[in-house]
Amino acid sequence: MRVSDRGGAPELETEGLLVNPGTEKNLVAAANAAGSSSEIVVETRNLSKVYRDFWGRSKKVALKPLDLQIRRGEIFGLLGPNGSGKTTTLKLLLGLIFPSTGEAVVFGRDATEVSKNERIGYLPEESYLYKFLDAEETLDFYGRLFDMPPEERRRRATALIEMVGLTRDRKRQLKEYSKGMTRRIGVAQALINDPELILLDEPTSGLDPIGTREMKDLILDLKARGKTVIMSSHLLADVEDVCDRIAVLHQGELKELGRVEDLLRVTDTTQVRARGLPPAALEELREVCRKFGGTEIEVGNPTITLEDLFLEVVRDADARPGRRASQPRS
Ligand SMILES: Nc1ncnc2c1ncn2[C@@H]1O[C@H](COP(=O)(O)OP(=O)(O)O)[C@@H](O)[C@H]1O
Ligand SMILES: [Mg+2]
Repeated sequence: MRVSDRGGAPELETEGLLVNPGTEKNLVAAANAAGSSSEIVVETRNLSKVYRDFWGRSKKVALKPLDLQIRRGEIFGLLGPNGSGKTTTLKLLLGLIFPSTGEAVVFGRDATEVSKNERIGYLPEESYLYKFLDAEETLDFYGRLFDMPPEERRRRATALIEMVGLTRDRKRQLKEYSKGMTRRIGVAQALINDPELILLDEPTSGLDPIGTREMKDLILDLKARGKTVIMSSHLLADVEDVCDRIAVLHQGELKELGRVEDLLRVTDTTQVRARGLPPAALEELREVCRKFGGTEIEVGNPTITLEDLFLEVVRDADARPGRRASQPRS
């Protein structure tokens, strides 16, 4: 189940962008089925950025020469601590800043050609939205910037507000929005032009675990709709759950690049999982491991993540309000 108050979201009008949101399971399945094509949407070659001061003196090496290829339909994560060059990379892809060396190519065009940005959606690290507008007015405003006819603006605004789970709050001024709601209207704004490529700079920053889960579902949803997503984060768990591939940046340098599952797989250890085994079977399993020379043998119960536990507790609390903490789990 998704942790959202959108439960039972109605089937939305299609037209490329909108499909029935479905359950998380369906989404992940659809996302996997959508896979990624061989078409390269973003490529950087020897791309670097040195910020200079007013007199042109080198001030800060923000990004060391970077070579990346990102394919259509991928969710690609830029992972790294603060100051590692993630925002700089996204800004270079948008052509908001110019590279010091090398080039970034997006949709086969140089990133500095800003007209290509019509096909890109961007959620900046901080959204600068007008706080006296409500959600509908905000999206209408951005729809106008893309010269959308009024009817289409209305239709898209309604559908996007539904998609990001803000239908109930669509008439409230953004100044009343929580951090999570502000982030979600930011995503809706980034999607107003039905972009093929979506750049999300720290989409989960400042969100609580439920807000984070909803944002991650939203990102998987985008993939299921065939979008390419590049997101940055300094939070490991956020990237692990949604990204197909990640680049780990540290002080502007690419340290690791690959599929999340490959990077995380521990190849010299074997794991066997089964339900309903009696204690005798466990002893035999240990025996088999010993017989074949296995070391550091562990036979026991797997653990869930703290995030899963937290969401389970919150869901339980919603379902049965007033119930106090349960007995410690044994
Ligand atoms: N306009 C700028 N002028 C000078 N240095 C900058 C500027 N923008 C970013 N930097 C520096 O470049 C480095 C990378 O920044 P940034 O790309 O924002 O990292 P991240 O998004 O990973 O936190 C940091 O050390 C930051 O201080
Ligand atoms: Mg940043």
